[in-house]
Amino acid sequence: MIIALDGPAASGKGTLARRLARHMGLPHLDSGLLYRATAQALIEQGCDLADSAAAVKAARGLALTDFDEAALRGRDMAEAASVVAAIPEVRTALIDLQRGFAARPGGAVLDGRDIGTVICPEASPKIFVTASVEARAMRRALELKGRGEAVDYACVLEDIRKRDERDSSRAVAPLKVAADAFVLDTTKLDVEAAFEAALAIVNS
Ligand code: CDP
Repeated sequence: MIIALDGPAASGKGTLARRLARHMGLPHLDSGLLYRATAQALIEQGCDLADSAAAVKAARGLALTDFDEAALRGRDMAEAASVVAAIPEVRTALIDLQRGFAARPGGAVLDGRDIGTVICPEASPKIFVTASVEARAMRRALELKGRGEAVDYACVLEDIRKRDERDSSRAVAPLKVAADAFVLDTTKLDVEAAFEAALAIVNS
């Protein structure tokens, strides 16, 4: 069983994916970490984020075991990730890693932007997790505050709007709802209610 959760920034797909994976005893891949780690490698090497050759090399060098999640989850890395994620060759370089993960015996849960549309078109179910931009900005602002990053709501709202625009308008694998996806709007749902709704979709 491959469960694909896609959706815009801070829609709650990561939390849902983790909960579902734990509940079902499946491994979970947060594909956003791959783009974040690629961006981090470029920054560490002093390369431009638009340097596609260096970005592809960094993406090819990633191993799923060496992510420092605490460093990758920051606001700057989210922004940088969305820049490298728009480079078509970077996306291609990360396909096999994600498909290999999805092919684990027993199945897997993957979350991202293009899991149901590009990486695992055979996934079932596909859940497109969304929420109003204001609700998403509020959640991300709280999350960043919890990490000790001093950010105000208006800045986070602007960041998320910019990233939504970049993720939806890029030429390759833009963020969109797969034709056979269930849309789960979590604007008015807390974590528990969103999990129950996702579980109902998985069991349907
Ligand atoms: O948690 P949030 O949605 O803010 O971030 P994320 O899922 O870690 O994704 C960070 C950035 O990576 C996104 O803005 C996308 O540009 C990119 N990304 C992507 O293009 N494709 C994926 N499958 C996952 C992330």
